[in-house]
Amino acid sequence: MLLTKCLPLICLSLLTLCTGRPLYPLPGQGTKSFKLQTSRPYNIAHRGSNGEIPEETAAAYLRAIEEGTDFIETDILSSKDGVLICFHDVILDQTTNVASLKEFADRKRTYEVQGFNITGFYTFDFTLKELKTLRTNQRYSFRDQQYNGKYPIITFEEFIAIARDAPRVVGIYPEIKNPVLMNQHVKWPGGKRFEDKVVETLKKYGYGGAYLSKKWLRKPLFIQSFAPTSLVYISDLIDSPKVLLIDDVTMPTQDTNQTYAEITSDTYFSYIKQYVVGIGPWKDTIVPVTSNYMQAPTDLVKRAHAHNLQVHPYTYRNENTYLHFNFSQDPYNEYEYWINVIGVDGLFTDFTGSLHNYQEWTSPLTDTSKSPRHLLGQIASLVLPYSKA
Ligand SMILES: *[C@@H]1O[C@H](CO)[C@@H](O)[C@H](O)[C@H]1NC(C)=O
Ligand SMILES: *[C@@H]1O[C@H](CO)[C@@H](O)[C@H](O)[C@H]1NC(C)=O
Ligand SMILES: *[C@@H]1O[C@H](CO)[C@@H](O)[C@H](O)[C@H]1NC(C)=O
Repeated sequence: MLLTKCLPLICLSLLTLCTGRPLYPLPGQGTKSFKLQTSRPYNIAHRGSNGEIPEETAAAYLRAIEEGTDFIETDILSSKDGVLICFHDVILDQTTNVASLKEFADRKRTYEVQGFNITGFYTFDFTLKELKTLRTNQRYSFRDQQYNGKYPIITFEEFIAIARDAPRVVGIYPEIKNPVLMNQHVKWPGGKRFEDKVVETLKKYGYGGAYLSKKWLRKPLFIQSFAPTSLVYISDLIDSPKVLLIDDVTMPTQDTNQTYAEITSDTYFSYIKQYVVGIGPWKDTIVPVTSNYMQAPTDLVKRAHAHNLQVHPYTYRNENTYLHFNFSQDPYNEYEYWINVIGVDGLFTDFTGSLHNYQEWTSPLTDTSKSPRHLLGQIASLVLPYSKA
């Protein structure tokens, strides 16, 4: 009886295997629900699975969900007409085809951004309609170029729809990007600020609730920013957990012009923990690097934990270019070190699939191993050798 009921499902699983679509175990998929796992460090898909597919596109986010991410991460900027979009750079040059389009040749501008004059095509000089005519490209030449020119820029609302349509609970991790610049160049009705628009959009889709509250677990969300004043400002507007990003040691904060030493001091942690649940530092500032070898770790993670702050460092990348020599060119060694030696609470990765596989092998989710889907996967793997390659 049970078996006959299961048979169509088994065939379905085999079909996905035979068509070459990998069958990934989904995190947190127990017998009761498809909930977010909270027992191991968070897998945060940095700009989607951008190691494989152009960053911040629907395709990159869908891939990350398929690969087992806990959170899809995005950077929020604005169009000229005040629509929030998912895009990393303030200029469109690096990851779109804007420079090749004659109709926009006169849009190039120079503005001062965090103390540097930068020339390019700025997102806020284009209406959403115009932005939608652009196509995205892979940022790095050593990554797969086959998707160049295929995918459009998406809006923040479209991004939220992707998380909501996922077949299990997938959290979102939006960054309030360059708020100083956005508020300088974009005007919203009623004198609203960029930060107001971000929070308004989140609330429109039912986001809110303190970390690990029932409401939060249904729609998990971390709000991140490099600008502490933006996080403090929105603390009155939404109770969702917030994370202060921390830049390289040479970079002052964009809004308060504070140094790395200032914002990583115990005094500052005592202050900022009233507003945030964690920090998101650049990983090479936690474990400094010389000649591509890692030095002794700083006490940053220990001190942050002593203040009950989570630590979600960025960015983990599989490629040789980014792996320090200590890891023997093996990204799993890198995850092992950061999760088990340093003890971080979340990881921003360009390769969600790799982090997910590493975690499934080293700390499988117990309820998942008993789930019907897992059982089906096991049966499928037994039958697979006998099916056509
Ligand atoms: C940027 O350019 C403007 C105009 O040429 C100049 O006044 C300003 O000092 C420049 N800023 C920087 C940081 O170089
Ligand atoms: C930021 O602070 C540094 C000192 O840390 C100072 O030299 C610089 O002028 C300040 N910049 C602004 C824009 O206030
Ligand atoms: C990385 O390798 C270097 C050179 O062998 C060694 O000195 C250093 O301690 C290693 N770093 C870590 C964090 O293991």
